[in-house]
Amino acid sequence: MLKIGIDKLGFYAPHLYLDMTKLAASRNVDPDKYTIGIGQDKMAVAPITQDAVTLAANAALEILDDRDKEAIDFVIFGTETGVDSSKSAGVYVHELLGLNPYARAIEVKQACYGATAGIQMAKGHIAMNPDSKVLVLGSDIARYGLNTSGEATQGAGAVALLISADPSIMTLEDQSVYFTSDIMDFWRPVYSDKAFADGKLSNEQYMAFFSKVWEQYKAKTGMELSDFAAICYHLPYTKMGYKALKTILGEGSEDVQERLSANYKMSTTYNRNVGNIYTGSLYLSLLSLMEQAEDLAAGSRIGMFSYGSGAVGEFFTGILQPNYQQHLHVDQHARLFASRIEVTVPEYEAIFEETLPTDGTTIELDIDHDPANICLAGVTDDKRQYVNKLN
Ligand code: CAA
Repeated sequence: MLKIGIDKLGFYAPHLYLDMTKLAASRNVDPDKYTIGIGQDKMAVAPITQDAVTLAANAALEILDDRDKEAIDFVIFGTETGVDSSKSAGVYVHELLGLNPYARAIEVKQACYGATAGIQMAKGHIAMNPDSKVLVLGSDIARYGLNTSGEATQGAGAVALLISADPSIMTLEDQSVYFTSDIMDFWRPVYSDKAFADGKLSNEQYMAFFSKVWEQYKAKTGMELSDFAAICYHLPYTKMGYKALKTILGEGSEDVQERLSANYKMSTTYNRNVGNIYTGSLYLSLLSLMEQAEDLAAGSRIGMFSYGSGAVGEFFTGILQPNYQQHLHVDQHARLFASRIEVTVPEYEAIFEETLPTDGTTIELDIDHDPANICLAGVTDDKRQYVNKLN
């Protein structure tokens, strides 16, 4: 039986962040509400020189070698922060990374579920073409608006997953349960650059979807809580996943509860310091778990709950591969976090308000202050101008 799964996993967040306690002070909110009630310490802030395309391309840059670039024949870009209603963000990334031209490149949208849809599509593609590799991207900038209740759950960043046969990090198991229902918990009309959310309904639906797919998964597979070393969640904020985990912890022994709670904490470290990155959030949590947990053995089964408002939910699983740790980039990610620059609340507000012209006006952006290798350098003739500083 062909094993298919995650061969490499890359991550990128912009170089600026806002301290949540400073945001709380400025909004006259008790800082504990943000750091404990919501569970966020820092929020990544994207400068105007980073968009969904550049964040994803920077995430992919850290993992791909020349052999991968030749073998990738499918780029699937999951995002809800697309930069064009027609051309896919995948085509831009394909060019920026210099991938094999004999490839497909598309964009997939269903709120935060897009990258999961991409991974499932990639599995089918690899099953038919075992020698090929698929690059799945999840990249977003979460914007609710200044002084909104969603403000504390913003963020920006991207993940890049290389999906292949005989993967080095994790094989994806075939059994999975998915569920769709038309609800208006969170959405972004095409005329708005900020998301609309019914916060209370979105929390309720997240929990309801988790319960539905978890119960159905157990009924379908005969698995139980003790079969899992950890469960990773889509994390709009880190308290959300914990609320869902708490509803099922009682199904396990004390040991199982301890293990899952401890690993949950590890799976939220990165997200707690980045914020919501929508499509990439679940995979950032998986990365955080693998890079932060000290005794997560190869062979461990990890559960994953993906949720995209609107809404589609899915529960699926993976098995960690022998020596998976050797294929992670722990030091690189430690450097990424350590080198970030803090912005003040007024600076964050100014960056938030600085948006690209929507009337076709030419704009040139200063990319010298953005340390990222791949940046948006401006817009000319209604065309975004991307630069890979390494070329
Ligand atoms: N100390 C400790 N905790 C405190 C506190 C304090 N001083 N003050 C408040 N809290 C706690 C509250 O008790 C509450 O905890 P519980 O949820 O466990 O009861 C928590 O802090 C949040 O408080 P509120 O419910 O009052 O917060 P809020 O209404 O201002 O906003 C929110 C919270 C609804 C999540 C809002 O930020 C929002 O709308 N975010 C965007 C939507 C979202 O992220 N939804 C999540 C599910 S949808 C999804 O997953 C898809 C996606 O990515 C968007």
